[in-house]
Amino acid sequence: MAGGPKIRIQHIAKSFGPAGRAIPALAEIDLDVHERELVCLLGPSGCGKSTLLNIVAGFLAPTSGTVLVDGRPVSGPAPERGVVFQEYALFPWLTVSGNVEFGPLLQSRPAAERRRTVDRYLDLVGLRAHAEKFPVQLSGGMKQRVAIARALANNPAVILMDEPFGALDAQTREVLQDELSRIQRVEHKTILFVTHSIREAVYLADRVVVMTSVPGRIKQVFPIKLPEVRDRFALEFTQYESDITRVVREEVAKVRE
Ligand SMILES: Nc1ncnc2c1ncn2[C@@H]1O[C@H](COP(=O)(O)OP(=O)(O)OP(=O)(O)O)[C@@H](O)[C@H]1O
Ligand SMILES: [Mg+2]
Repeated sequence: MAGGPKIRIQHIAKSFGPAGRAIPALAEIDLDVHERELVCLLGPSGCGKSTLLNIVAGFLAPTSGTVLVDGRPVSGPAPERGVVFQEYALFPWLTVSGNVEFGPLLQSRPAAERRRTVDRYLDLVGLRAHAEKFPVQLSGGMKQRVAIARALANNPAVILMDEPFGALDAQTREVLQDELSRIQRVEHKTILFVTHSIREAVYLADRVVVMTSVPGRIKQVFPIKLPEVRDRFALEFTQYESDITRVVREEVAKVRE
């Protein structure tokens, strides 16, 4: 759909449990994500961020509402939507390059093209030298780089990331944020990114969406008007951080009441 949003989330609601006793997890979500946009979702634990991402990925059916990608309803997972989750979820029996090659192999791409794809994305995430290692031989940050390379190797238009850096130490996390920001300036994907880190959201996002406590709704949307390459210590940066923190805290406090 030319000119329309890349992802259109329309009146999405989701409840879990048996009919009559179902508990709402997502109340009513409407959100458009535009082509090349990186949108971060923030909100208290249990507000439905992963549920929403899984619905967009096609792993989970909503109770009501629709998700459109390029104007077409999502009815299940598809290679056009890549996923990167917190737990690295690599295939332990495949090498780094085997993991990255997996998608192109599934799509029956010719061998020479697969090799080029693997080399390109391993270069992009700085792991060319580790191509023949197995996941067990890698650090957490390296595994997460492989997961990103593997998602990119399918050439998805949309990437869904659920706390992809959540398990990493603070330094590695910032290095991977820098890498993702750099990759995004080259690849221009449409990315929906869940995080608990407000700093990470301000660093990466074109827009930050804050959700309410369960059942999740959209509480407030912050367009981040900062340069493409961001300075975590700039005054404007820390101003966004404190504005968003105030709004997130209101919701976290509700969960604890
Ligand atoms: N498969 C399921 N069956 C029943 N309830 C579920 C299921 N998946 C999620 N829920 C419930 O739905 C709500 C939202 O869960 P979800 O995992 O989407 O939250 P989240 O925002 O990702 O939380 P976190 O920040 O802790 O990852 C929670 O109350 C959770 O208990
Ligand atoms: Mg979650």
